[in-house]
Amino acid sequence: MTSDHPLRPVSTSQSGAPIASDEHSLTVGPDGPTALHDHHLLEKLASFNRERVPERNPHAKGGGAFGTFVVTEDVSAYTRAAVFQPGATSETLARFSSVAGEQGSPDTWRDVRGFSIRFYTDEGNLDIVGNNTPTFFIRDAMKFPDFIHSQKRLGDSALRDADMQWDFWTLSPESAHQVTYLMGDRGLSKSWRHMNGYGSHTYSWVNAAGELFWVRYHFVSHQGVVAMSAEDAERIAGSDADHYRRDLFEAIARGEHPAWDLYVQIMPYEDAKTYRFNPFDLTKTISLKDYPRIKVGTLTLNRNPENFFAQIEQAGFSPGNQVPGTGISPDKMLMGRVFAYADAQRYRIGPNFNQLPVNQPHASEARNYQHEGPMRFSFNGPDHRTYHPNSYGAAGGPEADPAIGIEANWEADGELVRAAATLHPEDDDFGQAGTLYREVFDDDQRARFLETLTGQGRAITIDGIRDRFFEYWTNVDADLGAALRERV
Ligand code: HEM
Repeated sequence: MTSDHPLRPVSTSQSGAPIASDEHSLTVGPDGPTALHDHHLLEKLASFNRERVPERNPHAKGGGAFGTFVVTEDVSAYTRAAVFQPGATSETLARFSSVAGEQGSPDTWRDVRGFSIRFYTDEGNLDIVGNNTPTFFIRDAMKFPDFIHSQKRLGDSALRDADMQWDFWTLSPESAHQVTYLMGDRGLSKSWRHMNGYGSHTYSWVNAAGELFWVRYHFVSHQGVVAMSAEDAERIAGSDADHYRRDLFEAIARGEHPAWDLYVQIMPYEDAKTYRFNPFDLTKTISLKDYPRIKVGTLTLNRNPENFFAQIEQAGFSPGNQVPGTGISPDKMLMGRVFAYADAQRYRIGPNFNQLPVNQPHASEARNYQHEGPMRFSFNGPDHRTYHPNSYGAAGGPEADPAIGIEANWEADGELVRAAATLHPEDDDFGQAGTLYREVFDDDQRARFLETLTGQGRAITIDGIRDRFFEYWTNVDADLGAALRERV
């Protein structure tokens, strides 16, 4: 059916029937009351009331794009994952984000940035859900909600609060390394294109012979790692809250496709026990001198979303999405994350969120005996049983294959305890933070860092927290602590 407008089809109700007006309610005469049986009006208002889904808690503000990952090297000695075999090409989805701010918050507030990559592989979706820093603030999933609460808003005034942030950080000394990154140039990137991405945790790879390796993922930006000055960040936060989102969308629309090389650090299985840092503690980096980066391939983002809500807002990334040849590790944070993400998405989007096109695997449909639930629309053939085991042969449904089991086979023993992970010879909370400050930052970066921390220290209003702030930074570097005491 065509409309009065020569180029447009006629509007319909949600059930497909043509409607008479997009603009006028049905009323008793032009000036009279509205009729309750104006089905289209009711449907339109009701639909509007249901437009929002809860925003992500955390990483609410973000943006993303689709792309391609091409393997350029041969890492088959370390993994049998199809996505990483020589010459393999996969479609990908990337989402970048800020951690603490809400949906409408300015992109250029100082923060760690999320760096999520989904590979739609021949063997299902592989997600690497990382940040633009190689470490993190805490090392046990038990502390994650407390950490995020301290970064968000006070219970009474709903204001963000320096006292609350520094109270948590200074009482959690394992945060020092990541806070050093955050208060340095990594906390303010020029754009999402100008930052590296890190899986941060140690993950595992398994090769065709069944040998296990520990792996850390690094995405190295072709655009370079470029910072934004604090002054620019403050100005842009006021003039263009969506600066990073706009930059990515417009660059891709112009045909400037941002790219990253994927590298891995590979640690042989046995080394983990004796390595000088505990590799399952993501507050630590694994030295590039001990385990140099090995290149895998190149990720290029080349396609903008056509619908932000359907393709980016409803995307459900999870570190639990692994494929044969890749896996997690005994990192206590990572294990908690395997539960947390899909659970958040079942609440945020709905229990069948994996059936949405952006979350569906591309290789083949998901097949198992999970059944029904709100909004389910994909279903199996009429003979497909809803239970296993069943006696209906091939038509009765799928069968798991123990030979393809993707679980990484690490050894674990011991009694159930609530304890910190084992300390390795060089493990301490402040050592790597001090090295980052003294040996990785250059003079300019150190000067900017001191300036930023001076401002942070001045924002603290409670004496006891300010004292711990000085102690914390003195533990990172004695001269830095002294300089802060003087300036703040
Ligand atoms: C136990 C620790 C952690 C828990 C419980 C946790 C939980 C969550 C939850 C519930 C979400 C929202 C997911 C959604 O609604 O779709 C999220 C988002 C995110 N988290 Fe974590 N997180 C943890 C640690 C980390 C770490 C260590 C990193 C980085 C290395 C990280 C990076 C991200 C990113 C990038 C997102 C946004 C994902 C997207 O783009 O959709 N998180 N986290």
